[in-house]
Amino acid sequence: MTAPALNAVARALVAKGEDRSALCGVVGLGYVGLPLVVEFVRAGYRVIGFDVVQRVVDGLNAGRSHIQDVPSDDVARAVKERRFEATTDLSRLREPDLISICVPTPLSKTKDPDVSFVLAATDSVKRTLRRGQAVVLESTTYPGTTRELMLPALESTGLKVGEDFFLAFSPERVDPGNPTWHTRNTPKVVGGITPACFETVRAIYQPAIETLVPVSSTEAAELVKILENTFRSVNIGLANEMAIVCDKLGVDVWEVIDAAATKPFGFMRFTPGPGLGGHCIPIDPHYLAWKMRALNYKTRFIEIAGEVNAEMPEFWVGKVVDRLNDGGKAVRGSRVLVLGVAYKKDIDDIRESPAIDVIRLLDHRGAVVTFHDPHVPVLREDGMELTSVPLTPETLARSDCVIVVTDHSGVDYDMVARHAPIVVDTRRALRGRPS
Ligand SMILES: NC(=O)c1ccc[n+]([C@@H]2O[C@H](COP(=O)([O-])OP(=O)(O)OC[C@H]3O[C@@H](n4cnc5c(N)ncnc54)[C@H](O)[C@@H]3O)[C@@H](O)[C@H]2O)c1
Repeated sequence: MTAPALNAVARALVAKGEDRSALCGVVGLGYVGLPLVVEFVRAGYRVIGFDVVQRVVDGLNAGRSHIQDVPSDDVARAVKERRFEATTDLSRLREPDLISICVPTPLSKTKDPDVSFVLAATDSVKRTLRRGQAVVLESTTYPGTTRELMLPALESTGLKVGEDFFLAFSPERVDPGNPTWHTRNTPKVVGGITPACFETVRAIYQPAIETLVPVSSTEAAELVKILENTFRSVNIGLANEMAIVCDKLGVDVWEVIDAAATKPFGFMRFTPGPGLGGHCIPIDPHYLAWKMRALNYKTRFIEIAGEVNAEMPEFWVGKVVDRLNDGGKAVRGSRVLVLGVAYKKDIDDIRESPAIDVIRLLDHRGAVVTFHDPHVPVLREDGMELTSVPLTPETLARSDCVIVVTDHSGVDYDMVARHAPIVVDTRRALRGRPS
């Protein structure tokens, strides 16, 4: 691909990437934004972080990280060396040369996209937009968001995209808790509104990210992210359905999956579990489903996978009821210990965690529910507040049933197998041990 001819504004931005004099701005300092800050700093840039929560900003300026994957030492060093400062003053968005927007994109109660955070951040950028700025949306969203929502807002300033300012979409692929793949070494897809938009963003991101993957449009980049997460949701849904099928047939689903995974081609291993959790996989596919509904098309795989995955907490709570029943106990009044409430192993994030549904369903049936999670000291969700109990032979023996929802590495599963009267294991954490 031949590089496009760049005007003087674009060339100046590219040069600021090459000599690291660009000032980077990151809007939204959460699971995605803060690791990006750290990588920009590591690449040699100065960074201003923007957030609307004063507590987050104060903590960061005091050198404290609130994100498990980002060590406080990295933040403290960047602050001390004056390479990073955080602020709630959004009028300072005029200062950075590049602005990466990493704000939440949740679903509304009716499972429609809630792009209010993206709109608010875009509005803040628009108020101070100046010639020579590049703006990148990183939040996961439906195809068309960058061009249909952000571009008209930013061009309403009278500045022209691709000439005065630059706009791109680049989805974050953060996998919290992953020791191998992180922001720097995970290839990053970038699509610009114009070729100059891509080139300016590429020049500034390149020193911070090992591999950039160009795509031809912001829509393509938006769809890449949704395809990745839909792929996971559909395949996890298939593994979950296979768990239900195997249960009905009296076959061990894990034996079937393990044996299928010996096929060296044409099979990819996905495993069943308690249902989907986290900020991405249960949510992102619905952004596409919503967009396609507006175009009169029903995305059937997304709907069916969503249904199967959402039924899993009920399936596993049914197993708790059955196992208690086998021992002559009613679930009402039984003490059930939920082991692991984070949405996946070795992290502290409880957003959309299936453990919350499991706890609710058990509570509705009258069980006395407690939980243990080495990463989550207190579980607060929609009026519910529970404190993690210590995991000891006594707490295990006092329970009528233990349900493993999250397979954290640090847990002594031998002790669980020895002392819990019944274990319902949604993750095969007790592999090979009696349960
Ligand atoms: N968490 C993940 O693993 C992950 C992975 C890939 C992509 N994503 C996507 O990245 C985006 C951000 O997710 P996250 O997990 O970092 O969210 P988060 O909730 O951890 O962080 C978002 C931050 O944005 C701040 N914020 C909200 N509105 C703002 C505004 N108008 N101006 C400035 N700051 C604002 C919030 O206070 C919060 O600190 C989402 O679209 C998500 O789907 C998340």
